[in-house]
Amino acid sequence: MFEIWNKQRISNLSQTEIEQWFDVLNQGLEEDRGYDLSEPNIEDIRAGIKTDYIDYLKSCEKNQNFYAYYILRDDDGKIVSVCRIVIVDNQYYLEGLETHRDYYYKGYASKLFNKVMYELKRDNIKTIYSIVRNHNHKSINFHYKNGFRVENKDDLNIQLILNVEDQIRKDLFDNWVTNYNKSVIKSEKEVTYPFAGYSKVKYQIIDMITKKPYARILDMGVGTGEITGPLHDLGYNITGVDLSDKMIDLAKSKMPNAMFICDTFQNSLAKLNNQYDFIIFNYSIHHLDYQNHIDLLLNVYDYLSDHGMIIIGDVSTLNTKDIKQLQEKYDSIWDDEEYYPIVNIYRNSELKKYYKIYYKKINDVTGIFELLKI
Ligand SMILES: C[S@@+](CC[C@H](N)C(=O)[O-])C[C@H]1O[C@@H](n2cnc3c(N)ncnc32)[C@H](O)[C@@H]1O
Repeated sequence: MFEIWNKQRISNLSQTEIEQWFDVLNQGLEEDRGYDLSEPNIEDIRAGIKTDYIDYLKSCEKNQNFYAYYILRDDDGKIVSVCRIVIVDNQYYLEGLETHRDYYYKGYASKLFNKVMYELKRDNIKTIYSIVRNHNHKSINFHYKNGFRVENKDDLNIQLILNVEDQIRKDLFDNWVTNYNKSVIKSEKEVTYPFAGYSKVKYQIIDMITKKPYARILDMGVGTGEITGPLHDLGYNITGVDLSDKMIDLAKSKMPNAMFICDTFQNSLAKLNNQYDFIIFNYSIHHLDYQNHIDLLLNVYDYLSDHGMIIIGDVSTLNTKDIKQLQEKYDSIWDDEEYYPIVNIYRNSELKKYYKIYYKKINDVTGIFELLKI
């Protein structure tokens, strides 16, 4: 059970809730604060610490920097994991993520954190930060595991940063990994949005590439390796990028000789040390908004070899009018959070200075772009 304790909820907490909340945090607090457990007045010290904590919780009701506490209970209703978000200089910070000492290593903290991500997305919060002591390896590992990356470091602390939308997308694709190919086949069989014509797109891309006997290929959003798997088996040099480590694990099992980068499209660029003859975005670039499509397609320019080509297979149309019609046709299953490539948007953008832009329609849903490096 997941709960949000906003300011109003905090003003109405029951004594049991307060006691349970404190019990989650009550692990070695005396030692943390430098007290020796053999001190004769240790019980008074403990009581003082508890009072401090509870005073802090109650003060959140009126604290301008406080955003919310997030609480996870077990099936019996006992509070097992807590964390809070605070606002400092208009930035959102994750703080106080703790799990009750009897519930360690059962995945409660990750479960809570995951739910918090969805709440933050709903509240339109795009970035969160977290500050962790350098020596706190357990916490640092938790942050890495949950998508944070280092933004700053000094002698005492590491400041970590997380893009909320990327983390949610990663979570969705991690969970989709076993069923992804089945969903593609189903949608394709039913000739419906979004994957109608997927195999045609796949084999046309493979045909385009195999005209060259050898090529270096960067598969952006490699997923389960559907597109580059067959090319890998033919001996092509493959680098796969994906933010979902579960997707990468599956792609790796199909392509043992390929190189993989588990990161976002944009962040992966700094980790590339090659130029590619083909950069593929198959049903992947639509996870970015249109401005980010353009920025990313411009940013990958330097990673294309001379005469290199970007290939984009995706739900796509010639213009915005057509995409609206497509949306109306598939209204009940349309994904409002995806931005499908539109020929006119690309051709009227900065891209035209750097690429010759070709587009081939496969059916009313899908099509293939070729952006040829000028
Ligand atoms: C719909 S799947 C397509 C997979 C594969 N290209 C195919 O044709 O089957 C989209 C993939 O893009 C990845 N992805 C989405 N947004 C991403 C981003 N910003 N950076 C890196 N990978 C991303 C997802 O994790 C997912 O594996």
